Amino acid sequence: MLKIRIGDIHIGDEEKKAINEVLESGRISEHGKVREFESEWAKYTGRKYSVATNSGTAALLLGLQTLLNDNRFSKIKKGGRVITSPLTYTATSNAVVLSGLEPVYVDIDPATFTLQTDRIEDLLKKGGKKYCMVLPVHLMGYVNDMDAINMLAEKYDLVTFEDAAQAHGSKYKGKMAGSLSLLADFSFYIAHNIQAGEMGAVVTGDAKIQKLAKKLKANGRVCSCAVCTRSEGKCPYKNKGFDPRFTHEYIGYNFKTTEFQAALALSQLNKIDRIINRRRYNVKYLNEKLLGFSDIFQLPVYSEDVSYLAYPIIIKRPKKLPRKKIMRELEKKGVEVRPLFGCIPAHQPAYRYLKKKYDRKLPNADYAGRNGFYIGCHQYLTGDDLEYIVQVFNEVLKGI
Ligand SMILES: Cc1ncc(COP(=O)(O)O)c(C=O)c1O
Repeated sequence: MLKIRIGDIHIGDEEKKAINEVLESGRISEHGKVREFESEWAKYTGRKYSVATNSGTAALLLGLQTLLNDNRFSKIKKGGRVITSPLTYTATSNAVVLSGLEPVYVDIDPATFTLQTDRIEDLLKKGGKKYCMVLPVHLMGYVNDMDAINMLAEKYDLVTFEDAAQAHGSKYKGKMAGSLSLLADFSFYIAHNIQAGEMGAVVTGDAKIQKLAKKLKANGRVCSCAVCTRSEGKCPYKNKGFDPRFTHEYIGYNFKTTEFQAALALSQLNKIDRIINRRRYNVKYLNEKLLGFSDIFQLPVYSEDVSYLAYPIIIKRPKKLPRKKIMRELEKKGVEVRPLFGCIPAHQPAYRYLKKKYDRKLPNADYAGRNGFYIGCHQYLTGDDLEYIVQVFNEVLKGI
């Protein structure tokens, strides 16, 4: 039986060569390949700087810790409120909470899963001073209305931070996702468009944020050179009487990644246009072939600006067609399925302390989290795979 996976990776000659180069270099911890990836990713996203991390979660935490340690942002301090999306992978909220900030959820647009900006404005009108940041999530590749968000941020003196983990190469009014705010995070986890197994990055146009992030990701050490020159006797701190690698200005983390991850990501980055175009073609194909089910399914909005992470579907009549049953039947026939993350305060046990507070306040996120699911639309799906998906949907829905 065919297995249509959510994501896949094919290790070809290019990937093997990249990994072998690392093995032969004798250097596996962060070095030249990581710096090369940072430079290429910054270029690709249209930002000046990129700081690689060992996951997207780490990139979120690093971005937040950087803002907390940057004295230009006095409003961002423990207890500060961060407006964010309730429909996301839990890492977004976790990073906010673990940084001592308070997530405040605003409902989403049901078609694109982006924040409803009029709801943000309502909150800010009531108590703008309590908020310090807006952290929109470009879920499934759909970019939030960043012009409206940035306008509100400016009016109420807030920082904007895009969670672009799922939006590699998505565009908004001609600009890349991740280049529309002060800083952004990306994840290069396995099912994402650029995949490195585990890796992430913070991107920014701000030199101070880049420098601070480089220190904080290495346990807050003093040095932040691109590549260490100490062995060549060129360390800028060589006559200072201390070793900058083991002298720590901040209380930080180890969020450093490895040369292997960067080498894999670089080999993917060479093909990013092909990857994105193929995924977009797959979404378009499935939308055309599944159009007959649009009375029972909300199919994904198609746009040439979206770089799709997956193929999200919302069930319109869940009483007649329960998600559990559809997901089980699709998986039985070899089409891998995932639930659409869940509405954080309503469905995630870790956030049960917020359940009452948000009761009935996030109807769209609650509905999508309860009745949404996604299948893969990745670049390795063949024409036969796509036909098979359509066949399976027809069989499953006939049988329910
Ligand atoms: C929206 C979002 N934010 C953050 C993350 C965290 O990334 P990672 O899994 O690389 O830690 C993910 C992961 O998929 C994500 O989807």
